[in-house]
Amino acid sequence: MMGTPVLTIDGPSGAGKGTVSRAVANLLGWHYLDSGSIYRSLAIACLQTEVDLSDVAAVCDIAQNMQLSFECGETLQVSLNEQNITHLLGTETTGNAASIVAAYPEVRAILLQKQKDFQQLPGLVADGRDMGSVVFPHAEFKVYLTASAEERASRRYKQLIEKGIDANLSQITREIEERDRRDSERATAPLMVPEGATFIDSSSLSIQQVIDAVIALVR
Ligand code: DC
Repeated sequence: MMGTPVLTIDGPSGAGKGTVSRAVANLLGWHYLDSGSIYRSLAIACLQTEVDLSDVAAVCDIAQNMQLSFECGETLQVSLNEQNITHLLGTETTGNAASIVAAYPEVRAILLQKQKDFQQLPGLVADGRDMGSVVFPHAEFKVYLTASAEERASRRYKQLIEKGIDANLSQITREIEERDRRDSERATAPLMVPEGATFIDSSSLSIQQVIDAVIALVR
């Protein structure tokens, strides 16, 4: 809905956007759009139907016909064609496939309106790569949240080890750098600092310090 305030939080993967956006949305009582989960859901749909990720027409067909529903409870629950896919969203396989399908301009065009529809009263916190540049260019509040690739890799590594998942720090660093490159160098809606955005480097900040800085911007 036009006139509804929007706070966009863009940045590379692993910068803490998800945690910060959810916390800020909760504090403000605003809706939350995790746009990465839309691309991740499409990736899951493609992997499940074993479509060739380089077949743009086939990927578009899936994007056009997938039924997505988001339920914001304690954690975000996502259903794809009435199947709960929440447990599949966070894997590296899904993230890498999402970054591939997200590079197609045709795919981005199909998913644009789905994202705009999240702009509902009393407000929206939108998290992604192109929220402030393409999807909500007129947003009242814009943040670009980043951290060094080493810091992001080490956070990801710790998360995996805590979950008891075997992980390799140098491999994670390589994957993060490759994902950054793909997300930043694509022709359509690349990762960039949107005009008018407040730049926050979280490398040496706690999550709480970042949340406080974002809230201060809106209040
Ligand atoms: O934020 P994330 O890691 O969940 O995003 C997964 C992939 O989706 C990311 O590598 C690039 C793509 N993406 C995008 O192109 N545009 C967005 N607004 C959000 C995510």
